[in-house]
Amino acid sequence: MKNFSQKIIIANWKMNLSYKDSIILAQKFFKIFSKKNISHKVLVLPDFLSLAEISKKFKSKNIFYGAQDVSPFSLGSYTGEISLESLNQLGCKYVLLGHSERRKYFFDEEIIASKVENIIKNSNIIPIICVGETWSQRKANKTWEVIRGQLNTAFSKINNLRGKSIIIAYEPVWAIGTGKVISVSDALIVHAKIRDFISKKFKRFLPKELGVVYGGSIDLKNYKDFSKLDDVSGLLIGGASLNVSNFSKIINNF
Ligand code: PGA
Repeated sequence: MKNFSQKIIIANWKMNLSYKDSIILAQKFFKIFSKKNISHKVLVLPDFLSLAEISKKFKSKNIFYGAQDVSPFSLGSYTGEISLESLNQLGCKYVLLGHSERRKYFFDEEIIASKVENIIKNSNIIPIICVGETWSQRKANKTWEVIRGQLNTAFSKINNLRGKSIIIAYEPVWAIGTGKVISVSDALIVHAKIRDFISKKFKRFLPKELGVVYGGSIDLKNYKDFSKLDDVSGLLIGGASLNVSNFSKIINNF
C-alpha cells in the first residue's frame, strides 16, 4: 500500500458560492493553475450544478474536479439525489464523503457505509472519507475511539480494496471554520493510526494507494507546518480556498 506520489490540495467550496460565483472563481483558478507547472495536484469541489458546468468548460491537466457527496443508490426513484452514474459521466475522479457538516445536518453518519460501498464497487472514483472528533470527545481522550468507530462504520460493507486508491481526510470538527488549528504532532498521531487501521483491517486486500490528508482552518498562517511531511498526503481547505491569491500561495509553497 503506497502513499500518493504527489501531494493533493483540495478546495472544498461547500455551499459558500452561488452557481455564477462558482464559475467566476473556477475561471480564476483555471487561469492561474492551468498554465503553471505545479508540483501538487489541485482538486476543486464545487456544488453539483457548478461541477457539471465547470468540468465541461475548464479542462486542464493540473486541475481536477470532484463532488462534495454522492447518492448511496444506483439510478432509480430517489428524488433529489445525485447519482454516481452522473458523476462518472462528468469525468469526476474524486468524491468527498462524510464531511462533518453532512454528518451533522444530513444524516451521513447513518448512510456513509452505503455511499462508500457504491463508489468502491461501482466506479474507480477515489473516495475522500472525512473523519474527526469534536472538542468534547478530544477533551475526554476519545479522539481515536471516535475515529476508529467512524472508519469501522464507513468500511462496514467493504472487505476488499485491492487495486483501489482511497483518501482519508482527518478533520477535527472543532477545527473546521473556527480558526483553531491542531498541533502538527497531534495530527500526525491520528494520521499514523489511520494508516495502521487500514493495514490491519484490509490485510491481504489493501488498497493500491492510501492518502491521509489534513483539514480544519488551514490558512496562510499555518499551512507550512503541514508541508514536507511524509504522513500528510495533502490538505483539505475550506475558507482559504475561496480566495484565489491565498490559495495559490498555499499551492506554490506547500
Ligand atoms: P475550513 O474548512 O478550512 O474552512 O476550516 C475545511 C473543511 O471543512 O473541509
